[in-house]
Order: sequence, then C-alpha cells, then structure tokens
Amino acid sequence: MAKKVAKKATKKKPVKKPAHRLSYYFTVKDSVKVVQDRAGPKANMRVKYLTDTLVKHLHAFIKEARPTMDEWMYGINFLTKTGHLSTDWRQEFILLSDTLGVSMLVESLNHSKMSGETESTVLGPFYIPNAPHYANGANICLDGKGEPVWVHGRVLDSKRKPIPGAKLDVWQANEDGFYDVQQKGVQPDMNLRGVFTSDEKGRYSFRSAYPRFYPIPYDGTVGDMLKALDRNPNRPAHLHFIVSAPGYETVTTHIFTPDCPWLKDDAVFGVKESLIADFHDVNDAKKAAELGMPNPFKIVEWNFVLSKEKK
Ligand code: BEZ
Ligand code: FE
Repeated sequence: MAKKVAKKATKKKPVKKPAHRLSYYFTVKDSVKVVQDRAGPKANMRVKYLTDTLVKHLHAFIKEARPTMDEWMYGINFLTKTGHLSTDWRQEFILLSDTLGVSMLVESLNHSKMSGETESTVLGPFYIPNAPHYANGANICLDGKGEPVWVHGRVLDSKRKPIPGAKLDVWQANEDGFYDVQQKGVQPDMNLRGVFTSDEKGRYSFRSAYPRFYPIPYDGTVGDMLKALDRNPNRPAHLHFIVSAPGYETVTTHIFTPDCPWLKDDAVFGVKESLIADFHDVNDAKKAAELGMPNPFKIVEWNFVLSKEKK
C-alpha cells in the first residue's frame, strides 16, 4: 500500500499556472490583482464583485495613506475593540458606520426619491419592534413630562392620494435627550413610543413631548474617534418614524425640530433638509380642549408620502 502511494506521488504533474493569473507572488504594484485572482471558478459572483471592489479601494487607501506598522496595529486593535463592545443591545460597528457617513450613503443610494416621496434616514439603535398600538389621538408621553406637542398629518401615495391602514411606528427621546431604554426605572417602559394606523382619509395623530438633542453613545471606540477628530457627538432633536403600508415601500425616517442648535452638525449625517418640520406654538384654550391638549402647546403637521413597492 505504502509503495502504491509513493508511486502515485511521483507521477503527479506540476501545478500549471492558469493563463489569467498575473502572478502568484505579491508585489506592491500588482497587489490588487494578486489578491483578486485567488478566487476560484466556483466563487459567488456577487461576493467576488464586492470583495474585489473593497480590495481595490482598501489597497489604494493603504498606498496613499501609508500607515506605519504601529498605526496599522492601532487600527486592528480599534476594530477588535469595536467588535467586543457590540452586544445584543449595543452595536458599535453600526455606530462606526453611522459616524463615517457610510450608513447614510447606503441608505440614500438604496432609497433615492424621485417625486417628492418622504426621504429616509438612519434607523439608529433605539428602535424596539413591539411598541404598544394606540388609537389616533393617544398620548405617548407616559410620564407627562416635557412641552406637549400635537403631531398630526396624513399618509399619502406619490399622487397625493390618502393611504388608509398605513402603520406608523414612532419613537423619540424625551425633553432631557434620553430614550426610555437608556433610563430604565427613571422613565416608564415604552415611554414616547407607539404604533398608529392611518384612518380612511390617511390621517394619523398623537400627543407627544417636544424632544431634545442628545449625544450618541461615545464611551467606546467611536467616542475615541470623535474626540481625536474634535467632532461633536450630538444628534439634533427628532422624532423617529417607520411608515409602512401593503403595496408601498417602507420608509424609515425622522421629523427634525427646526430650532435645534445641532441641525447642521448631526454626528451621523442624518439630516435632510426635506425632513425639517415647522413646529408652531399654539395658545388657544378652545383648540386645546378640542384636541384634549393642555394649553399652551406645540403643533406639527407632517405628511408622509410613500412610493409604490418595486415589483
Ligand atoms: C438615533 O437617532 O437614535 C441614532 C442614530 C444613529 C446613531 C445613534 C443614535
Ligand atoms: Fe434618535
């Protein structure tokens, strides 16, 4: 048996270099091609395309920036720590993507709006899927704190026809700039969150509290980066929405308050001009009584325009 194996081994032909391969050996000049050409004939073409493009730009970055060995190791440790910081409830990698403008780039390229449909923006880490369902007009500010706001409007299609039965999932920070999940035991669970359904005229409405700006979590690697770059960690005040309806593209978006000092310096680049709303002050006891609001209060009217689902 041993003899047979030895005989076979001597018969083995030398491996031929496939014609398409430039080189087996790494050189700075051919670095991209050498790495790309390692893929075999059974490679998944989409994975190959994405990896090839990544390698092309990554090598170009290294050739241009020329990090020292220490800087490269710093980068490796930075990414390792970013991974270790990520858990079920904290996603430091998404935060890194957000603060480098990558999340908004992916979001904007995948959801370009042609005819005035509501623009999308980042989801963020504070969304909870199972918020309570409420009837229109309900109050989602469970602790009654903050300046009262009446939020109302319609969900429309691109021809501005009402969409009845659309689902509006809303969540926001409170007047101190904290989400309920950041202040367990301080704010009631599910404070300033709720799911609403548009009526037969596409209308929705609820009572809430005027939100405040807040810093993104910056006690980790992303915070280290922001500090080293002398960057602001704040997000301008906003309400989050996910608006969906059968047959339409779901939109993940915000409404920004117009008077926030951080509107032009969002740490995650989420502001689009079309998402800045007009919040008005109302001092009208009759109107307040009609809406079941305390007087005075703020009001914002905001329509969501959805595009038809792509087939
Ligand atoms: C947010 O708006 O909740 C958010 C978005 C991106 C990063 C951090 C927070
Ligand atoms: Fe937010």
